[in-house]
Amino acid sequence: MRISIIGSGYVGLTTGVGFALKNHKVWFVDVDKRKVDMINRATSPIYEPGLEEALREVHSKGLVRATLSYEEAIKSTEITFIAVPTPTKDDGSIDLRFIENVSRSIGEALKDKDKHIVVVKSTVLPGITENVVKEIIKQVSKNDNIYFAMNPEFLREGRAMEDVLNPDRVVIGVEDEYAKEKLLSLYKDFVSEDRILIMPIRSAELVKYSSNAFLSMKISYSNLIGRLAKRLGIDVYEVMDAVGMDKRIGRDFLNAGLGFGGSCFPKDVKALSYFTKSLNVRNTLWEEVLEINETQIGELINIMKSVVGSLKGKEIVVLGLSFKPDTDDIRESRALKLIKKLIDEKAEKVYAHDPIAIDNAKKELSHDKVEYIYDLQDALSRADIVVIATEWEMYKNEELYKDKIVFDGRRVIRGEHARYYEGLSW
Ligand code: UDX
Repeated sequence: MRISIIGSGYVGLTTGVGFALKNHKVWFVDVDKRKVDMINRATSPIYEPGLEEALREVHSKGLVRATLSYEEAIKSTEITFIAVPTPTKDDGSIDLRFIENVSRSIGEALKDKDKHIVVVKSTVLPGITENVVKEIIKQVSKNDNIYFAMNPEFLREGRAMEDVLNPDRVVIGVEDEYAKEKLLSLYKDFVSEDRILIMPIRSAELVKYSSNAFLSMKISYSNLIGRLAKRLGIDVYEVMDAVGMDKRIGRDFLNAGLGFGGSCFPKDVKALSYFTKSLNVRNTLWEEVLEINETQIGELINIMKSVVGSLKGKEIVVLGLSFKPDTDDIRESRALKLIKKLIDEKAEKVYAHDPIAIDNAKKELSHDKVEYIYDLQDALSRADIVVIATEWEMYKNEELYKDKIVFDGRRVIRGEHARYYEGLSW
């Protein structure tokens, strides 16, 4: 198949390279010339394990091309995927700026085009594919030969290529046979047919939010049980190991700690909560999920204060800045929020370490009280109070914490050699 992908970020690029690995010809479109040039040189603009090797392979076979021109990409292809961001505004409503702009440009490029399918891969609330994307494209293109679909992406950062090539399931929202058959034949190469779920477009849109909200809920649930466990002197991990063995529940996403961050969970739960309210459906569940998540940092700060007294004037080492290990992504990272809180508490200095996320963290948080340190030993030599905020593998060595006062936000160590060790919920 000939496929164009609008937006060459995490989702667009990994999905497109995945298609090309199955011998489809893929055109990437992006507004960022730097990204376009990099893809055309077979260099990945983002870090994701296995992506660059795969990009080099498909590039050498002539299966991928990037361009700034919608016209060029869309005229050369039969199916277009939209994979641009859908951020959430401060009030919780979804920001459709990118989706609307992209739809207009696709509409222009489809003016005299023969049969074409437009698939929304971006996370959008139920109704947006039909009421916004389809409406705009039909209005601008005046073309009746366009078919629409919604196909959410469930990939995890750090495992994106793995998730693209071996998905648990593929969800396809369609309204006609043509788009259905085309997408079925595209995805049959990735997953067995019983794992491809065909449904109305709105249902597919809701699947994505329901999945992310459920996983977020599991984390906040564990954090709530964790608060209780902490008050009772119980290790919540021991409890969740037993709870998770129930097949109906499952052990994944029951790890208590500083909570969830990243580009998806916080924004999607916020958008779902706002949307539900806008339909006058009574709901407090998701607000609670977010509330627990936001207040986990305060829980840790309180524990720290109960041990070392006021944080005013204290020097503190913070280990881990990315929102989870194995990525340099710091979006909605709990670690950066924690550092801001430590500064609010008048800590004298925060020495912040991360194996790969420091450069991104610097752009997000620069403050005279925060010093970023690239070398782990060096960071640890700066102060006695240590907080572990992200569970990088390199932090697991107990020896590192000899004589330190350690507060563990992710249950990374046991604190065998620490002068003092205390976990957030264990
Ligand atoms: C997530 C979804 O997993 C993915 O399906 C969706 O497409 C996008 O959002 P990602 O943002 O890459 O993917 O991160 P994920 O690995 O799911 O972790 C999200 C956050 O939850 C991280 O901050 C992580 O530290 C936290 N988390 C995860 C916990 O606090 N406890 C857990 O048990 C699991």
